Amino acid sequence: MLLREVSAAEASSRGRKPAAVDLSVQIGALRLRNPILAASGTFGYGLEFAHLVDLNRLGGFVTKGLSREPMEGAPAPRLCETPSGMLNAVGLQNVGVRAFVSEKLPVLRKYDTAIIANVFGYSVEDYIEVIQVLEDAEGLVGYELNISCPNVKKGGMQFGSDPSLVAEVVGAARKSASRRPLWVKLSPLVANIGLIASAAEEAGADALTVANTYPAMAVDFRTGKSRLGSKTGGLSGPAIKPITLRLVWETRRAVKTPILGLGGIETAEDVLDYLSVGASAVQVGTASFADPRASERLVEALTKVLERAKAFTLNEIKDRFLTENG
Ligand SMILES: Cc1cc2nc3c(=O)[nH]c(=O)nc-3n(C[C@H](O)[C@H](O)[C@H](O)COP(=O)(O)O)c2cc1C
Repeated sequence: MLLREVSAAEASSRGRKPAAVDLSVQIGALRLRNPILAASGTFGYGLEFAHLVDLNRLGGFVTKGLSREPMEGAPAPRLCETPSGMLNAVGLQNVGVRAFVSEKLPVLRKYDTAIIANVFGYSVEDYIEVIQVLEDAEGLVGYELNISCPNVKKGGMQFGSDPSLVAEVVGAARKSASRRPLWVKLSPLVANIGLIASAAEEAGADALTVANTYPAMAVDFRTGKSRLGSKTGGLSGPAIKPITLRLVWETRRAVKTPILGLGGIETAEDVLDYLSVGASAVQVGTASFADPRASERLVEALTKVLERAKAFTLNEIKDRFLTENG
């Protein structure tokens, strides 16, 4: 529908020079240049992509999950393609929070982009320690608490599916994260995401990231073996977009906290779909595997959509959509 509206606007104003558009968005206290961020675990520490992507053009990016100690991750194979999606079981391999601060952050600081540190732990104390190390470091604009990873035996999703555990870990993280905003990344595999979202909001989350991957599996019947070293993994990519879109919509109805939507985003229309059900910004994950420039390309595509529609801001295009179809 929005595309129809875009083409109508284009037809009615052909020949006029496009004005500069403002893609900036507000996520709580944080102003981002645009609503496109690269998602955790799919963009390394950012540095791996810096020769391909102009990091300064992104709304920002979320680092790989950081843990208290370095983690070796899961056995190979860790990735497997499925129809319209991808399965992964990376098992949160990372250099550990201290090496991130001493080796990666000093290089990252020279970029003019919003860097959000994704934080992971097996216990509440783990989460707190990671945040405390990051609190002493410069160059970050916020934290994203991963309470939803399906690829580790303990922690992760266990925290994210019980409202009282969510309240405990988010409340404790909130107290430690005094310098910066705290985003909480929710699990999609819950009976009522509104309850989990409300628990995170009440415990002090500044934004909610909806959502992580879906626990899933792929096998080869010839060998009877899983296609992943960890046997099961997390499903991402276009296959999950309609399911996650509904979760964003349900979360929006339950809480006032800003939402970052992600799951299967590949085009500007996908971004606008997420914004139209209540997300303030989006993250791009699996699409970066097919095209490492996917996130930057989406910034360009979104700019073009607004220019063609003669809209100056994202709110303007959203308001127009709601007026015509609401
Ligand atoms: C290979 C891979 C690694 C990931 N690692 C993390 C991670 O470390 N922390 C996290 O919160 N999410 C992680 N995710 C989940 C993504 O950030 C994202 O929530 C999910 O893939 C859905 O978005 P997409 O369909 O655009 O990929 C990972 C996803 C993939 C594909």
